Amino acid sequence: HPNLSYEGSKGLVMDGTSLTDIASQHGTPCWVISADTLRHRANTLKDAFKARNLPVHCHFAVKAQDHQACLTVLAQCGFGADVVSGGELRRALAAGIKAQDIVFSGIGKTDEELELAVQHQIGQINVESVEELHRLDALARKMQRRARIAFRVNPDIDAKTHSKITTGRAEDKFGIAHDVIPALYRKTQTEMSGVELVGLAVHLGSQMVTDGPFRKGYERIASLVHTLRADGLRISDIDCGGGLGIPYRDETAPPPSMLAEVIAETLGDLDVQLHIEPGRWLAAPSGVLLARVIDVKDAARRFIIIDAGMNDLVRPAMYDSWHGILPLHTPENMEAGDVVDVVGPICESSDIFARQRHLPPLKKGDLVALLDAGAYGTVMSSTYNSRPLAAQVMIGGGKQAVIRKRQTLDELLAQEAVPDWLLHT
Ligand code: LLP
Repeated sequence: HPNLSYEGSKGLVMDGTSLTDIASQHGTPCWVISADTLRHRANTLKDAFKARNLPVHCHFAVKAQDHQACLTVLAQCGFGADVVSGGELRRALAAGIKAQDIVFSGIGKTDEELELAVQHQIGQINVESVEELHRLDALARKMQRRARIAFRVNPDIDAKTHSKITTGRAEDKFGIAHDVIPALYRKTQTEMSGVELVGLAVHLGSQMVTDGPFRKGYERIASLVHTLRADGLRISDIDCGGGLGIPYRDETAPPPSMLAEVIAETLGDLDVQLHIEPGRWLAAPSGVLLARVIDVKDAARRFIIIDAGMNDLVRPAMYDSWHGILPLHTPENMEAGDVVDVVGPICESSDIFARQRHLPPLKKGDLVALLDAGAYGTVMSSTYNSRPLAAQVMIGGGKQAVIRKRQTLDELLAQEAVPDWLLHT
């Protein structure tokens, strides 16, 4: 983690800011996201494609991290957005991302959401089924518009990642089967006036740490392009999806230059506008979740009970995923310490952040950081167990700001109503 280091009495420092200071000022649990790291990674990714001379439009996958401040940083870096709901579309527009730079993916877009997209004339709608195609075509014709679309191809390839984040197998709900694409493509381009079909999109899954699945997927797309062009059909855009993983633990995760290389080798000669939709790679290492040790419980195991739970960061409970954990104070000796379970306060056995992990000694009141929490962290939080949403702080250029106040219990309760008729019976 090049953005994290221990600096004596300041403890763990992220891009120049002491995380202990943040936790003491704003309390815990507290998310910290670094605009500097986010920007740095965005530029690194773009440079990898520039170095290969590949014409690529980058669309940030808003689902990974949807905060307006983060979208603003990425918009400043020239990123568009990949959205999967009307809500994310509104967010992207609100952050100043131009409609033409927005791609809309997702298998269950409602009529209202499609209408919003058509109205704003967004860059591309990735159509995921024949049914959606007909719905969109009719809707756009009614609105006297022509929607720019691509077909999301289901290439029937196993991305070999966690099954809950695998999306490109035939049995997965995503995309249009690759073998029906040619006939459908012809029919769409020759008969449908509500849509302008510009190309193909593919996304195999998330947290992919080898080049194999990417290569297979793009090869399948390339061969489809050749088939379609041989049939006289027009293709100007290919959306390569997201999915580049990061090393949460000790995985060797490939750099963006690998992705650029695979894309160059498989799709580079097709003379198309390329698009990518990365989320995790950009945002995950940009964020941490700070928590305080409530108690150290010595039972059959030593449990470090912290004040963040699966309601804040659900990834370990949901995908058995590993997140690095570091104390915020500078440990006297990184090697010393205990084998512990780090757990949250929620009444579920799955509320565990680390099992039998060797950590420096931790006592009641100590602060810790859960690493790589900038993607699929805040966005998947809930208020389970009536735990208000945690505060979010952005750091950057030596400055810091609260970008989301900690939710209060009053706010939580204020959203509920008890029907009158219940009280007067
Ligand atoms: N494009 C599409 C169509 C997607 O479905 C996704 C992620 C992305 C792009 C961005 O993928 P990324 O670059 O972030 O890998 N909640 C899970 C991850 C779910 C990913 C869903 N789709 C997790 O915490 O691991």
